[in-house]
Amino acid sequence: MKSEAIWKDVEEYINRKVVKQSAFQSEVLDISEKEGLPPINVQPPEGKLFSIIARSINAKRALEIGVLGGFSGLWILSGMENGTLIGLEKSEKHARIAKENFVKAGYGNNATIMVGDALSSLNHLIEDKAEPFDIILIDADKPPYLEYFKKSIALSHSGTIIFVDNMVWNGDIANRNDKSESSQGIRKLYDQLELDERVVGTVIQTVGTKGYDGFAVLRVS
Ligand SMILES: C[S@@+](CC[C@H](N)C(=O)[O-])C[C@H]1O[C@@H](n2cnc3c(N)ncnc32)[C@H](O)[C@@H]1O
Repeated sequence: MKSEAIWKDVEEYINRKVVKQSAFQSEVLDISEKEGLPPINVQPPEGKLFSIIARSINAKRALEIGVLGGFSGLWILSGMENGTLIGLEKSEKHARIAKENFVKAGYGNNATIMVGDALSSLNHLIEDKAEPFDIILIDADKPPYLEYFKKSIALSHSGTIIFVDNMVWNGDIANRNDKSESSQGIRKLYDQLELDERVVGTVIQTVGTKGYDGFAVLRVS
C-alpha cells in the first residue's frame, strides 16, 4: 500500500504533465489562501474533467451549487464557448472573491452568483422556470445533497451532466458507524440513486492532495 505522500506527488506530476492549469487558475488558489478561504476546492484533475465534459456536450448553461473562490467555476467556464454559469453561494465573502476572479479571468459577463442559501436559490430558479442547465456541479453542504439532486433534476434536460463532489468522503459513506450529518446526507443521495431511473451514473474514487474522496458523474436520461 503506497503512502499518502505518493498520492500528492503523483497528482502534482499529473497536473504538470496533463492537466496544465492556467497561471490564473493557480493564482486563484493563491488568492483563496491569502483571503483565508478553506482549501476545499476540487482538485485540478477533476476540474479539468468538468472542462472536457462541458466542451464535449457543447454546454452553454452551467449551474454550480457551492462556488467558494470560483476555482471549479473557472474550469467549467473554460470548457464552454461563451457559455454562462450561475453559481449559488451562501457566503457573501466567497461570492465576492469568486466574482472578482471571474471578472479577472475575462468571464465577467458570463458568470452570475446568487448569494444566499442554495435551496432557496434553487427554488427561485425552478419557480422562475429557468431554462434547463447543460451541466451542474453539486458541491455545497452535504446534509441537503438529496434535495440538491432533486432540484437539479428539475432544472435539467435529457443529456444534462450532473457532477456531485465528495461522494466518498474519506470512505465514511461505507462506514455505518459514522452517523455524521454529512455522511448521512450523502448516503441519502446514494439511496435515491439506487432506485432512480432518471439518471445513469457512476462514482469515481480519487486520491491526491485532498486525501481520499470521489465524485459522481450522472447523466440525465
Ligand atoms: C466545497 S466548497 C465549493 C468548492 C468549489 N466548488 C470549488 O471547487 O472551487 C463549498 C461551498 O459551498 C458553500 N455553501 C455551504 N453551504 C451552502 C448553502 N446551504 N447554500 C449555498 N452555499 C453553501 C460554502 O460557503 C462554500 O463556499
